[in-house]
Formats: sequence, structure tokens, C-alpha cells
Amino acid sequence: MYSEKVIDHFTNPRNVGEIENASGVGTVGNAKCGDIMRVYLDIDDDGVIRDCKFKTFGCGAAVATSSMATEMIKGKTVQEAMKLTNKAVMEALDGLPPVKVHCSVLAEEAVHAALWDYSQKKGIVIEGLEKPEEAEEQKVELDAE
Ligand code: FES
Repeated sequence: MYSEKVIDHFTNPRNVGEIENASGVGTVGNAKCGDIMRVYLDIDDDGVIRDCKFKTFGCGAAVATSSMATEMIKGKTVQEAMKLTNKAVMEALDGLPPVKVHCSVLAEEAVHAALWDYSQKKGIVIEGLEKPEEAEEQKVELDAE
């Protein structure tokens, strides 16, 4: 039921880890399944994403979508990363089963949350970006790992 690409990104995820002193960090969670995703961005002075890492405490599709999402925004500008949709991540993975679509939504949200954090730290406005939902409780869970 999973594509080869999903299995590849799940068994061999790209960009796992943390970035110290990241330009932006975003943590999101899905209340229903309890999965949590955190994305770290290293953004240079020109607004280009130099590096991107993630930590996911979640299902295989959550790992695969975070892996693919981070691959897709690396080297891109903040504005380009803003355009990353869960649909694009799913397409890049050759699809996901319907019950796993929300995992890709989490990946999109995690990238947006990290971009939001970056915009707050820099004091800039990123067009089309909205404040993410608070994920304080989930942050604690990830930190306690
Ligand atoms: Fe919830 Fe995958 S089952 S993120």
C-alpha cells in the first residue's frame, strides 16, 4: 500500500537531526494520532534555506513526508518554501494512502511553523504566512525523548 519512495524515505530518512542556533524552529502535532514533528531551518542573509533538519515522533508516513519536505525546501528561498504544499510532498512520494494524508499536512505545517519562528526572530513579515497553532505540550514531549 506504500510506494517505493515512501518506504525509501521511511527506512532511510534524509535530514534527520537538529540544527543548533537554527534560524527558525517549528513544532506541530496532530491531536488525533498524537504524532509530533519538528523542523529546523538554517536561513542565510539572502533568505535562502542553507540547511534543514527534522525530528519526527510519529508514524512511518510522518517520517517519510518530513524527509521529503526537508529535501524539497533545501536550497530554496523562504518564499519558495512557503509554496510547499502537502499535495506536492505526496506527489513527490508517489502518493499516500488516504488515511495517511494528514501526515503530509503535518509536514507542511511544520515547515510553516519553522518559517513563522524565523519571521518572528527576524521581525519580518512573510507573505501568506499565518501564526501556527501553539504546540507547547508537544514540544515538552519531544524534548523529553
Ligand atoms: Fe498521524 Fe501519521 S498517523 S502523522
